[in-house]
Amino acid sequence: MSHASPLKLLGLTTLSVLLTACGGQSADPDSPEGKRQALFKQILNSSEPMDGMLRGRLAFDADIFAAHVERLVDLSDAPWEHFPEPGDSRQPNAARPSVWSDAAGFAAAIERYQQSVSELAAVTAEQGDDPDALLAPLTTVQQACRGCHDDYRR
Ligand code: HEC
Repeated sequence: MSHASPLKLLGLTTLSVLLTACGGQSADPDSPEGKRQALFKQILNSSEPMDGMLRGRLAFDADIFAAHVERLVDLSDAPWEHFPEPGDSRQPNAARPSVWSDAAGFAAAIERYQQSVSELAAVTAEQGDDPDALLAPLTTVQQACRGCHDDYRR
């Protein structure tokens, strides 16, 4: 048995801080908040293994990678309709008020994300068995996730 690395311990601490910050509550799955959070989880369930394959944590498999890309394409316009006007919903969520007060900026962030996913799909169709070619377009997708989260997610 090897000792847990400091990095691994740090990762676990960060995770528990994040979980605590979320209050351990989840939204009603039938509410808009619950629906969009479930869709974001599905998006994560594809983007995480793709990241793992290109950054050496998982074995690269071109077919599995391509299936995840297809899933990201399918899901790329799914979460957004579940951001109705906030009204007086009390469902736990992590959307910032800027989603609504800066609707144009949010729409632009969606557009940027969807374009990055299309570009990843195009490269995958051409060079899907070359992990080196896939890294840059996947990184652009991840930057689009992060860019939106920085501005519109608590
Ligand atoms: C255009 C904006 C935008 C983009 C692009 C975006 N997200 Fe998000 N994401 C959000 C917002 C806003 C929330 C908070 C939703 C809520 O709590 O209701 C969120 C929440 C999440 C959550 C938490 C879901 C939960 O269980 O509460 C995950 C995981 C997530 N996003 C992953 C991703 C990944 C991975 C990508 C890219 C592949 C991505 N998101 C792209 C805006 C975005």
